[in-house]
Formats: sequence, C-alpha cells, structure tokens
Amino acid sequence: MKINKIKVTTTNLILAFFGFASVVMTSCKSDPNSAGFEFMPDMYRSPSYETYLENATYGGKDSMSARLPVAGTIPRGFESFPLGASEEDYKLADSLKSPIDYSEEMIVYGEERYIKMCSHCHGETGEADGLVVTNGGFPPPPSYTSGKSGHGGMMNELSAGEIVYTITYGYKNMGSHASQISLSDRWAIAMYVQKLSGKEFGEAKDETPAEQESTKQTETAVEATASVVAVETEGNVENEH
Ligand code: HEC
Repeated sequence: MKINKIKVTTTNLILAFFGFASVVMTSCKSDPNSAGFEFMPDMYRSPSYETYLENATYGGKDSMSARLPVAGTIPRGFESFPLGASEEDYKLADSLKSPIDYSEEMIVYGEERYIKMCSHCHGETGEADGLVVTNGGFPPPPSYTSGKSGHGGMMNELSAGEIVYTITYGYKNMGSHASQISLSDRWAIAMYVQKLSGKEFGEAKDETPAEQESTKQTETAVEATASVVAVETEGNVENEH
C-alpha cells in the first residue's frame, strides 16, 4: 500500500498551526457563561473596582462599590432650589427672581434644552404632540397656548418661577427633572416655554407701589421658607433639589 507523504510546505505549516490553535483555544467547558481559556486575563478582568459590584472594603449588607455621598454634602457648584415641595411653596414660586436676563441667546439656549428635555412629551411647539404622547400613549400634557394649568388659570399665564417649580418637582403625571437639569438651565427653559405660550418679552412694566409692597412681602416669605427648607434637608441628601 502506498502512503502519500504530506509535504512540509509553508501552507501546511500555517494550516497545522491554526488547527492546533483552534483545539487549544476553544472552550471545552459545558458552562455557556464560562469565557473558557483566557489569554491575558487582565485584559478582561480589570483589577479596579466595578461601580455596582461587591467591594470587600465595605462589609455588611451594603457592600457595593458605588457609595452614597456623605449626608449633608452637595456637589461643587450645585445651585439649590429655595422652595420645598408643597402647594404653599408653589404659591411662592411666582415671586422667585430669575438669575438670567432675557436675551435672544438665552431663548436659543432654552429652546435647545427644551427640545432635548421636554419636547418628547410637550411637543416641539408645546401643543402636547410629542412622540411619547402620539406613539407611546402617555397622557397628553395641557397645551402651552390654550391648555389649563392644574394649579388654576391658563398655561400661558404661568410665570417663569412657576414653570421652574414644575420642572423641579414635577406635577402629577410629570416627574421631577431636577436631577437632569441644572437650576439655571431650568430658568432658560422656562423662558422659552413662556415664549412658546405666546409671552412677549420686553421692558418690564412698572409696578404700582401696592404691587411693590406685595412683591416685597412674598420675597421675605420666600427667604424665610428657603432657610426652613435648608434646615429640613440638612443631613438628607435625597431631598435636595
Ligand atoms: C414624560 C412626559 C413629560 C416630560 C418629559 C415633561 N412633561 Fe411637563 N407635563 C407632562 C404632563 C403629562 C403634564 C400634565 C400633568 C398632569 O396634570 O397630570 C405636564 C405638565 C407641565 C406643566 C404644567 C403644570 C401645571 O401647572 O399644570 C408645565 C409648566 C410643564 N409640564 C413643563 C415641562 C417642561 C418645561 C419640561 C421639560 C423640562 C417638561 N414639562 C417635561 C409631561 C411631561
């Protein structure tokens, strides 16, 4: 019987190498979750701690690497909202003073933030025709131009402070957006929402002395509430807004 000898050519050597490598490197384990043979495991398994995994440094029930901030601390540059979450506090929102002045640039900035953060529900023109409503079946919010505010009055009468308050704490079917939008951005968005609802910006009309007095009183009330809120939320980071 004649046996064909396999010639030692470069092609055959390469084939033999891949054949051998595929046998060695293929996982033979029955566990489908096993990575099998790991070439340089450091590349797969980082020695640094994973955010949501167990960390031996913290024993006990909660041993997750991600820790809660120390009670009472706030991030650097955090702008806290001076009012608490109650109907009484909402009434004071009207007298909050915007930290930003009206300008075309601010309107453009507010629009850009509005499109990203609100238009999927409220619609690009504020007529409650965002995709979450039209396709997702989410209850439609009231229209900014012709709808009624749940707090009484019309949506187009809402002051910037009231809109900022709603963004901060949410309202009924709308959740709070405080963790996603900085306080100054909320003011910029509120300015744009007012523009959508038909408000004309221009010179502020002069207040009568009586109006000035009532504004002053409310401002004092806001300051008083702000200090109460600060005391109440001390040591309770979750309640900070
Ligand atoms: C998930 C959908 C959704 C998003 C996102 C959303 N809203 Fe709303 N919003 C609603 C709904 C629904 C209501 C009506 C709440 C109700 O009466 O149940 C509402 C109500 C409001 C009101 C009126 C509250 C009142 O006085 O009755 C304002 C103002 C408002 N939203 C502004 C905003 C702004 C500004 C943003 C973006 C920062 C935003 N919303 C993002 C769904 C949303």
